Amino acid sequence: MSGLEVKRISEKDWEIYKYLRLKSLGESPDSFGSTLKKEAAFPDEVWKARLKEAENSMTILPLLAYYNEQAVALTWGVLSESHLVNIYQMWVAPEIRGKGIARALVSRVLSWANERKANVVLLFVTTTNSEAIALYKSVGFYPDGKVKPLREGSGLIVQSMTLNLGEGDA
Ligand SMILES: CC(C)(COP(=O)(O)OP(=O)(O)OC[C@H]1O[C@@H](n2cnc3c(N)ncnc32)[C@H](O)[C@@H]1OP(=O)(O)O)[C@@H](O)C(=O)NCCC(=O)NCCS
Repeated sequence: MSGLEVKRISEKDWEIYKYLRLKSLGESPDSFGSTLKKEAAFPDEVWKARLKEAENSMTILPLLAYYNEQAVALTWGVLSESHLVNIYQMWVAPEIRGKGIARALVSRVLSWANERKANVVLLFVTTTNSEAIALYKSVGFYPDGKVKPLREGSGLIVQSMTLNLGEGDA
């Protein structure tokens, strides 16, 4: 898709990352284990430190997507010791959905997971979030049967979805 660029971000991008992350938590509170109340209270040092840690790491991939040079979407990949990559924080600004931006972000995480020799990519998605479930199914993830509450005190449930690398991924 022309006009779309997916970029790995670093500490210098902390303000736009903070802006998009807080926007995502406010716009889509049922999609994330964390909350706007919790993260809006973080001092700027926390946002900078998150990205600083990622910048010096081979196991954390913080991504933003830019559409016509505007930052409009984010996600993070995190590689664990057991060769497993988790996808977190996936969000696309509502006015720009349906244009393949989330798929481009997932695709970048899958390429990175392959480079890092991961075996499995995993995420949790709220069971009522049909758009996200359709997104992940469309790139080869399947529900693997694990469920848990979205967060303490929430009636919402998240389900785990898995993609085994080397079986049809990018
Ligand atoms: C889920 C979300 C990330 C999708 O982003 P997006 O950029 O609109 O998705 P894409 O355009 O890349 O769509 C890729 C595929 O996902 C599926 N999909 C996305 N939106 C859909 C919708 N509204 N209805 C049905 N399927 C949908 C389709 O299979 C689509 O492929 P297609 O267009 O070829 O049919 C976005 O809706 C969002 O940010 N939602 C709120 C936050 C959230 O739910 N995050 C996920 C946490 S696990």
